[in-house]
Amino acid sequence: MKIPQNKIYEISSSIDIVEVISAVTPLRKAGRSFVGRCPFHEEKTPSFSVSQEKGVYHCFGCGKSGNVFTFIMETENVTFFDSVKILAEKANIQLEFENDPYDSDRNKIDAIYEINNQAARYFHNNLTGRDGAYAMEYLTQRGLDEQTIRQFGLGYSLRDKDSLYRQFVNEFSKEDLIDSGLVLNIGADDFRDRFRGRLMFPIFNEAGKVIAFGGRRMYDETKDEAKYINSPETKIYNKSRTLYGLNFAKQKIKETGYVILVEGYMDLISLFRYGVENVVASSGTSLTNQHVKILSRYTKEAVVVFDSDLAGQNASRRAIELIIENDLSVSIIPLPQGDDPDTFIKKHGLDGFKNLLNKRQSIIEYIGNGYRDKGMLDSPERKTDFVREIIGLIAKMRDEIKRDFYIKDIAEKFAIYESIIRKELEKNSRLRSKGLTRELTPSGSELQLRIRSSVKLSIVELMLIRLLIDSDAKTKNFLMDSLEINLITDASAAKIVNYIMMNIDDPEKTSHVHLFNEFQDDRSKEIIGKALLDENYVIAGSKDKNHLNEAKQVLNQLKLMNIRSKISDIDSKIKSANEYTPETLELLNLQQNLKKEQVELEKGMKSI
Ligand code: CTP
Ligand code: MN
Repeated sequence: MKIPQNKIYEISSSIDIVEVISAVTPLRKAGRSFVGRCPFHEEKTPSFSVSQEKGVYHCFGCGKSGNVFTFIMETENVTFFDSVKILAEKANIQLEFENDPYDSDRNKIDAIYEINNQAARYFHNNLTGRDGAYAMEYLTQRGLDEQTIRQFGLGYSLRDKDSLYRQFVNEFSKEDLIDSGLVLNIGADDFRDRFRGRLMFPIFNEAGKVIAFGGRRMYDETKDEAKYINSPETKIYNKSRTLYGLNFAKQKIKETGYVILVEGYMDLISLFRYGVENVVASSGTSLTNQHVKILSRYTKEAVVVFDSDLAGQNASRRAIELIIENDLSVSIIPLPQGDDPDTFIKKHGLDGFKNLLNKRQSIIEYIGNGYRDKGMLDSPERKTDFVREIIGLIAKMRDEIKRDFYIKDIAEKFAIYESIIRKELEKNSRLRSKGLTRELTPSGSELQLRIRSSVKLSIVELMLIRLLIDSDAKTKNFLMDSLEINLITDASAAKIVNYIMMNIDDPEKTSHVHLFNEFQDDRSKEIIGKALLDENYVIAGSKDKNHLNEAKQVLNQLKLMNIRSKISDIDSKIKSANEYTPETLELLNLQQNLKKEQVELEKGMKSI
């Protein structure tokens, strides 16, 4: 779908960028431009400058810049296309499209909303009706009362193959039913319901409209099926932008000043039932950057309460990083082993939960406790690891004042000189490649070389080399089939990988000893040494262990890094352009597509 270029000009020239931005942050005239406090980062003194005549903004504090379209994209969290629509409406400009695909799209979207809306009612009626007796019993067992069931619109999907389809096909087209995600086309003229015999959780958008469903299995016979099935993404359901419960919670989030993040539908509903209403859950996916951006419109503080199991811990770690990167404050509530928020509040009540909330841990405490529990704060070396890890997190914070606060805190708590922490932090931000945190620390004469070539070597590239040398045949074959050498950005690493791939069938040539002979320069030797010998990257276990999953992760990470760097390249191109030309807009479009690809990859990584 393309908007004609002249329309975009027409819109941007009839919109006053100062007026648009003033609605978000107050601006005052200063010389030829307008200045105010930057809406993209926290600051005390204004460093955000807007040029009315040029129609662009730039922040001298955080470096963000753009035009009126990017401003709407960022602050309202919408696509380029939607930003054009929003501004066209504001400017009272009619958008007409080539072949008018807009209208048919509109009809489709309306139909999908309507299908979801009616499905929610249909599932709910199943639950309260005769066929829902067992499901109702299940919900009662789990402590839900009628009012909660009604508030969240819970329902039940019948166990028949196609009961929803048969009823809905009278009113909606087959195509729309399929596009809503509720019906599956399994053969020539064979359709069936996606959700059967499941407890149904309608998923709402921020405005409270039903846009999707999550369905939990209830019957023992279906134990081999997934515990939860969710609607696929549709024209109205974008998983990485949807937070379950936000429509109910947003007012309370503003009032209390913080948001509680949980993992599951049931967790959220249970907390609500006990009166904790500033809660959201990510639905059917792990937390994304966009989720956090959306939350940041409501609050600057998040409390993470994930399951106590390993998966939950990993998820919270990732959530913490995302939250920090978006400059929100974050604290963590670790739950007792075996509990999730739902079971915890049922056992200990609202007071028990409030107690936990009062004892929530800062990231320093949380990560520190993790090390302490493993007995890893006793040796000076381990303590150094811990401090490095914390600094890695702090480096992600964009707010300098906050960073400073953390530095002082660590210095005091762990008796380390502030200056040492600052030095480490500086090193960290210099070396940090976007997304991947762990780089090799340059040593001695290496430093010179590193600065000259200014390449960053990431742990992923090391892992790749290691997998190519020291993994099972299946994994190697997979890598040989799927790896593209241009994904490797470091020239030395690329040479090494290339060599190994050329000689993959020759154990002699790819032996550790020979590799060091083949590559004589210091940098290559360091790479090979780290990859093969450093205990941090060595594969545990024997050679015949299957490392396919690891290889898939590595490959995806490489692709992700590649996309990220393309995105940031476009960023700098856009920033260096003084004016907004059709080319810049093309670039923005391209960047949007890359971001979509990035989200897909991130999703893929989750399912590995
Ligand atoms: N989830 C999912 N698909 C799965 C498993 C989980 O989408 N196969 C999502 C659901 O949103 C679920 C959340 O991850 O709510 C947390 O999963 P889990 O902790 O397993 O479920 P609970 O929410 O605790 O559900 P219950 O208490 O009913 O077991
Ligand atoms: Mn649970």
